[in-house]
Amino acid sequence: MRIGIIGAGSVGKALAGGWVRAGHDVTLGVRSPDAARALAAASATGARLAPVPDAAAGAEVVVLATPWEATEDAIEACADLSGKVVVDCTNPLRRGLDGLAVGTTDSAGERVGRWAAGARVVKAFNTTGANNMENPQYGDRAASMFFCGDDEAARATVRTLVEDLGFEAVDCGPLRAARYLEPVAMLWIHLAHERGLGREIAFALLRR
Ligand SMILES: NC(=O)c1ccc[n+]([C@@H]2O[C@H](COP(=O)([O-])OP(=O)(O)OC[C@H]3O[C@@H](n4cnc5c(N)ncnc54)[C@H](OP(=O)(O)O)[C@@H]3O)[C@@H](O)[C@H]2O)c1
Repeated sequence: MRIGIIGAGSVGKALAGGWVRAGHDVTLGVRSPDAARALAAASATGARLAPVPDAAAGAEVVVLATPWEATEDAIEACADLSGKVVVDCTNPLRRGLDGLAVGTTDSAGERVGRWAAGARVVKAFNTTGANNMENPQYGDRAASMFFCGDDEAARATVRTLVEDLGFEAVDCGPLRAARYLEPVAMLWIHLAHERGLGREIAFALLRR
């Protein structure tokens, strides 16, 4: 798949490295392709680098891996996203990680759906740390990756991308389920950082 990842920080790099290894054509969309940070991200992952509009224009799947407060601008910079699968990895964190700025009757995922006109938005890769995106394996079990979106074909595309990284995919249905997935992310942050469990933890769904 041709994937454009907007943002080459912790999440952008973790996803890019895994998808390059899985054989996808990955471009990191950045504001300054000549910046040392961007060049280092490309060299660490094997992804290409491009300005944000070019990375988005050439992609079938556009992944938003930007800070929440920059996400509306990043979507605007992508220009026309209509028809594309847009994967929203963001969490609308308040400063200091002391809670979510959006929630219960709306979600960051749904806002992205309103900002990215005509795009097929899927919320994914927000409920665990970037370290788990690099390696989701815990002993003989894979961590679960929860995702949701209103377009069934887009969810199927994202399921493939989730499984390509080694996660167990858990399809949570419509995009409004992002109202539940974003608090799950807050729980992970709370456990890892406030409760002292550290970042080598992940959620997995048990079934019987
Ligand atoms: N870190 C995690 O473990 C984790 C896990 C799950 C979800 N998330 C969520 O994923 C998102 C990214 O997190 P992160 O930890 O990867 O952040 P990060 O390391 O701070 O990286 C953010 C990236 O976004 C870019 N960026 C900032 N403003 C931009 C704009 N207006 N247009 C285009 N690119 C822009 C930055 O580029 P510049 O160098 O140009 O500033 C940087 O490459 C956040 O919403 C976060 O809540 C994070």
